[in-house]
Amino acid sequence: MAVTATGARTPFIAGNWKMNLDHLQAIAFVQKLAWSLKDARFDFDEVEVAVFPPFTDLRSVQTLISADKLSLRFGAQDVSAHDSGAYTGEISGAFLAALECGYVIIGHSERRTLHLETDEQVGAKAVAALKHGITPVICVGETADDLAEHGPSAVPVAQLTTALENVAAGAEIVVAYEPVWAIGSGQAATPEQAEQVAAALREVVRTRLGEDAASATRVLYGGSVKASNIASFMRQPNVDGALVGGASLNVEEFSSICRFKSHVGT
Ligand code: PGA
Repeated sequence: MAVTATGARTPFIAGNWKMNLDHLQAIAFVQKLAWSLKDARFDFDEVEVAVFPPFTDLRSVQTLISADKLSLRFGAQDVSAHDSGAYTGEISGAFLAALECGYVIIGHSERRTLHLETDEQVGAKAVAALKHGITPVICVGETADDLAEHGPSAVPVAQLTTALENVAAGAEIVVAYEPVWAIGSGQAATPEQAEQVAAALREVVRTRLGEDAASATRVLYGGSVKASNIASFMRQPNVDGALVGGASLNVEEFSSICRFKSHVGT
């Protein structure tokens, strides 16, 4: 649920496992995470938590979450723009929907860099996800060179503007601002930088998808998020959560990030 009864956006903590943890490791990880959060009396209505395992883990994660009635959500790390056909190696949104994926990460900087994904392809994938009832987590972010040349928000704003071109007004999406220079570097953006870009991205959502979507859309920050810095990001009015890479692979660390409300004062 993106918005609570009082109209506030529900914070969203997302763990992007990247190409880590096979299906057996995934089962053990999700069990431990669920126990850790349960022990801490974590309230899943207050903060939504999702994991994004590799494709080959999804069926196992789905089965575990459903059998144990866990409140964790899950999603995939990519989706094809096509529904079916001669696309060797690709995964259809229809298949992800059949596995009850609630979300899919689209346009992660690693896919943009290593697989040369364009903003237009990211947009087509977002449309494909929505068509199958899956919420796209659309990633945007500038490189260190972009930052030096254009400042912090120009490139992410342009990326999101193009990616939303064919997305219907009012669609439920999540936006993740991930400066490329901050991913896996240990050097996170400052909370003020994240807030500035998140606010600019919300304006793009307002222009493209309308006022209601702008107030309901969660904008996440990603890039070297840890338990020790999450609270500073979550204090920003336009930052509604985090897309966590490396730190999402450690149960205690990720659980602590999910419990950011308990260390907001730190
Ligand atoms: P990181 O990765 O948390 O390891 O910096 C974030 C991401 O790539 O989504």
